Amino acid sequence: MTNSSINQLSAIILAAGEGTRMKSKMPKVLHTVLGRELLNHVIDSAKSAGTERICVVIGHKGDEVKEKIGDCVEYVEQKERLGTGHAVMQADGFIQEEGDVLVLYGDTPLITGETLKRLIDTHRKENNGVTILSAIVENPAGYGRIIRDEKGNFLKNVEHKDASEEELKVNEINGGMYCFKAKLLKEALKELTNNNSQKEYYLTDTLEIILSKGHRVNALVVEDSDEILGVNSRVQLAQVTQIMKRRINKMHMEAGVTIIDPENTYIEPEVKIGKDTIIYPGCNLQGKTVIGEDCIIGPNSTIKSSQVADKVTVQNSVVLESIINSNTTVGPFAYLRPNSNIGSHVRIGDFVEIKNSTIGNHTKVSHLTYIGDADVGERVNFGCGTVVVNYDGISKHRTKIGNDAFIGCNTNLISPVTVHDEAYTAAGSTITEDVPAKALAIARARQINKNDWVEKRKKK
Ligand code: UD1
Ligand code: MG
Repeated sequence: MTNSSINQLSAIILAAGEGTRMKSKMPKVLHTVLGRELLNHVIDSAKSAGTERICVVIGHKGDEVKEKIGDCVEYVEQKERLGTGHAVMQADGFIQEEGDVLVLYGDTPLITGETLKRLIDTHRKENNGVTILSAIVENPAGYGRIIRDEKGNFLKNVEHKDASEEELKVNEINGGMYCFKAKLLKEALKELTNNNSQKEYYLTDTLEIILSKGHRVNALVVEDSDEILGVNSRVQLAQVTQIMKRRINKMHMEAGVTIIDPENTYIEPEVKIGKDTIIYPGCNLQGKTVIGEDCIIGPNSTIKSSQVADKVTVQNSVVLESIINSNTTVGPFAYLRPNSNIGSHVRIGDFVEIKNSTIGNHTKVSHLTYIGDADVGERVNFGCGTVVVNYDGISKHRTKIGNDAFIGCNTNLISPVTVHDEAYTAAGSTITEDVPAKALAIARARQINKNDWVEKRKKK
């Protein structure tokens, strides 16, 4: 196959259905499994299998689907739901004359790029008109059955509702994913009728049509039948989430990450984790989070879209869209809000909240402190209960703290304000003016001791 056009590959993904059984305001394909929409999982797999163009058939709440998924794919609309064949007909203008086209469903998020590649390879090697991805399952109820002759050659697909007693016993089912020779699909679509129990245009009828024209049709049995599981209800959404969770956790463990309790650890597909990092139970690692080597994460921590360097500890904490440099410890019970950039060898202790701030190397923020909109230098020590008062009720202001400064316990830093290098603030101070380098700022009422006060009061 030297002609490059022969290897053209595109995909059509059906996503027009309402998903009634989800009982949701949202279109089914936008429900998420480990942080990613069902449809996006399928798009990812199609892309990783090498498709150049993807067309999504939308219908029910199509505008919402379009808005969420964006312009990484093309769209056609199916105004009425008249069956899977009818849905593909709407994409007729998208189907090229040359090469192959995958047809997939938008609600099967467990399909992998590797399996789709195998489907395409088999299709091309066997020179099939169409190759179906099938599965052997214990309970085939509801699915189309793959009917073969005694030699094992593909004869046809029969939908459950149209199947005979004999055919219902077949446990090889149509997984609902196909690789077609584009031209043959185009031709077959023209011949579809809705002559069946459901009065629908079945895509599956194209299989017989293509076979009847003398082309080879075959079904490739998927190794892991989980891959074709569709999501039709919230219960299935949870089942699919569990399977994907296990798959991702296994991949990380095989790559050298210790996961103490893989059943109780949720890692989203795009997360990267370095070797010898240990994940304790109850962690959610989300978005494009990257975690380095030799870290200790958890228990019970959520880290979203953050970069965590090597040898970092995050214990019982929440970290959102932030950076943590090496050898730093966070928590227990710390909250790093978006755009926090924490240096290395830093200590962020219990009940500390940090937002939109930089914290220099070796700085210690050990307990009960809020730092918002601040730039903190290196080797700074925060006493317990410091508050950066960043909001005056109208605007947010920035505070600066130089290197080696010492912030006494219960200091309020009224922003905007600067505490220069090596300066001290006395415990209990409310700092409203800049503190010069190496100065001590005391901003609190002096203590008065009223001697014998108690005795005097008793006499009154
Ligand atoms: C289909 C197959 C069946 C297979 C099963 C695998 C047909 C006729 N049957 O049955 O052999 O075993 O999938 O899961 O294809 N859709 C549209 N527009 C429509 C109809 C459907 O976009 O008019 C979309 C749905 O949103 C869904 C997908 O196509 O994502 C499949 O449709 P569904 O009704 O679930 O087909 P099944 O009856 O499950
Ligand atoms: Mg279905």
